[in-house]
Amino acid sequence: MLPSNEVTLGRHSMRQYLWFWLSSPARRTDFIGGGMNSMSVHLSENRRDREAFGSEISQARRELVAGLSQKAARIAPKYFYNGLGSRLFEAICLTDEYYVTRAEAEIFATHAGAISAAAGTQPTLIDLGAGNGAKAARLFSTLRPRQYVAVDISVEFLEQAVGRLQAEYPHIPMLTVGADFSENFALPGDVETSRRLLFYPGSSIGNFTPLEAVQCLRRFRAACGDDGALLIGVDLVKASPLLEAAYDDALGITAAFNLNVLRHVNALLHSDFDVGHWRHRAHFNEDQSRIEMHLEATKTQLVTWPGGARHFVRGERIHTENSYKFTQRGFTTMLAQSGFEVTHCWTDAAQRFLVCYARAQ
Ligand SMILES: C[S@@+](CC[C@H](N)C(=O)[O-])C[C@H]1O[C@@H](n2cnc3c(N)ncnc32)[C@H](O)[C@@H]1O
Repeated sequence: MLPSNEVTLGRHSMRQYLWFWLSSPARRTDFIGGGMNSMSVHLSENRRDREAFGSEISQARRELVAGLSQKAARIAPKYFYNGLGSRLFEAICLTDEYYVTRAEAEIFATHAGAISAAAGTQPTLIDLGAGNGAKAARLFSTLRPRQYVAVDISVEFLEQAVGRLQAEYPHIPMLTVGADFSENFALPGDVETSRRLLFYPGSSIGNFTPLEAVQCLRRFRAACGDDGALLIGVDLVKASPLLEAAYDDALGITAAFNLNVLRHVNALLHSDFDVGHWRHRAHFNEDQSRIEMHLEATKTQLVTWPGGARHFVRGERIHTENSYKFTQRGFTTMLAQSGFEVTHCWTDAAQRFLVCYARAQ
């Protein structure tokens, strides 16, 4: 049985599954012995939950140490998303340079009727990496989901966002699930099993290498069941100045988002990264068809954590994100390799972005 909390909002209760721990500061400080909110007090009293959360923390620490110890140091992009990281991502979406969110919104607005005709109404809508859930909420009026399930690694931010959505849409039963879908994951038993529509917008699949992306899509295929489907948005290859500007905006919000990963790593690993000694770098690697984000050391420094340390020389980089850019043919091939049959694809007028609807095969 997964640990869960029930929150009553409107006519329905919103159930929150808290079996995953990673980036909720409230839960982290609770586990470590700091400040508590009522939900974390409940959890801290449950020894089994504490053990589960403890093992997630240990795994995160092992993963971070392994990445930082590689010759070319790296931190997985999922570590961007503590509470501040999730809010900074929302701000990135508002920048002039980040066309991704607007191009995708144009597709959902222009093709809303065709999307609901393809997907059918009243699906079980499962929002993967839901963030603030705003993109899924824009589909509520046409899809009229029988249940909305928001899955994310940034648990506290997710709970707050879905709490607001539940108040706005009291007739839709909602669940929040904390999970890391870069690994095997299971949806809790309360998630309706029929007609699951997995929703994965924002080109988040582009954060995985092509091999990892196929593995991740296969996990989604397993999660959606034989009568399920996937509605997914990906960014298309385009001229590098446009791409590079989108990942290095003039206000420095993407830079702050990238640098904030060091704060999150410090909190998880008890390391002593000084954010002031690093700078944001983003460039388009044409050979790999991906934007790469790095953090570059502005001075030679020693970074320590309990049981370890790493010496960085000035100019050395930590690779923090890949964001692969796709062609329609390349991406639909990837979906077919993952057990999906693509039935519809839509682009925006400027052909910057692609949304595909694919049925489980
Ligand atoms: C780029 S944001 C997209 C948010 C929203 N879906 C959108 O399109 O605007 C990626 C979201 O996925 C979540 N996320 C990143 N890696 C994840 C992982 N491995 N497992 C679960 N959620 C993850 C982040 O917390 C964040 O909310």
